[in-house]
Amino acid sequence: MSSIDGQPRFAAPLRRMHWIMFALVLLAYLFINLFELFPKGSATRANILASHFLAGLAVLLLVLPRLWLRSRHPRPAITPPLGHWEELLGKLTHAALYLFLLVQPILGVLTLQVGGKAVTLFGVTVLPALLAAPDRALSHQLENIHSWIGTIFYYVIGLHILAALWHHYRRHDDTLKRML
Ligand code: HEM
Ligand code: HEM
Repeated sequence: MSSIDGQPRFAAPLRRMHWIMFALVLLAYLFINLFELFPKGSATRANILASHFLAGLAVLLLVLPRLWLRSRHPRPAITPPLGHWEELLGKLTHAALYLFLLVQPILGVLTLQVGGKAVTLFGVTVLPALLAAPDRALSHQLENIHSWIGTIFYYVIGLHILAALWHHYRRHDDTLKRML
């Protein structure tokens, strides 16, 4: 754990990871919303979708190292301390966010793989199609789940951001400063 003006903060690598992964998730959402705007079959559409894959795969690559770092560095206490229910809500939200960072990109990869598609980035195959017999119906279901989770987490992430701002501007505690 490190500190600023004697106040405890999240360890530097955890703070860095938090903001890098925030940017990557933002990009994954941005690209998937942009790609719909371009005509099917166009190179721009394919490249924007590849950018979605790239941002998502980077999240997948970082999530386990982040959890490993987290297991080595405790979460610094918040001053003034939170009530029992606030602590619990925070813990639940953070667990859901970690799960999302792990499961969402895996579902994306599975959608492609089960549909018999390789994971390609700008024409370069990073993971060839591994299944001998693709299952288009299952792939479609996985895509639906990926899409639902994507929608639900707009709200969970929104709640998380509102909570951070509430702590900083209303409760005037050091929750946000610990992550900066
Ligand atoms: C943090 C990571 C990710 C987030 C937040 C995310 C989110 C989303 C969202 C919101 C959609 C839109 C679904 C809709 O149209 O309703 C989507 C579609 C999709 N995502 Fe992801 N995704 C992530 C990672 C990945 C990864 C790693 C892959 C595969 C390498 C992937 C593959 C796909 C595919 C194939 C679609 C469907 C695109 C289409 O409509 O043809 N995603 N994703
Ligand atoms: C994609 C968006 C985001 C994701 C996935 C995310 C994920 C997470 C996770 C998993 C934690 C738990 C850290 C731990 O205890 O190990 C966390 C903590 C935190 N995040 Fe985010 N975050 C996001 C965006 C943001 C934004 C935009 C802000 C600021 C406005 C923010 C502020 C914080 C703060 C202050 C904490 C510490 C909370 C505490 O210790 O109680 N996060 N975040």
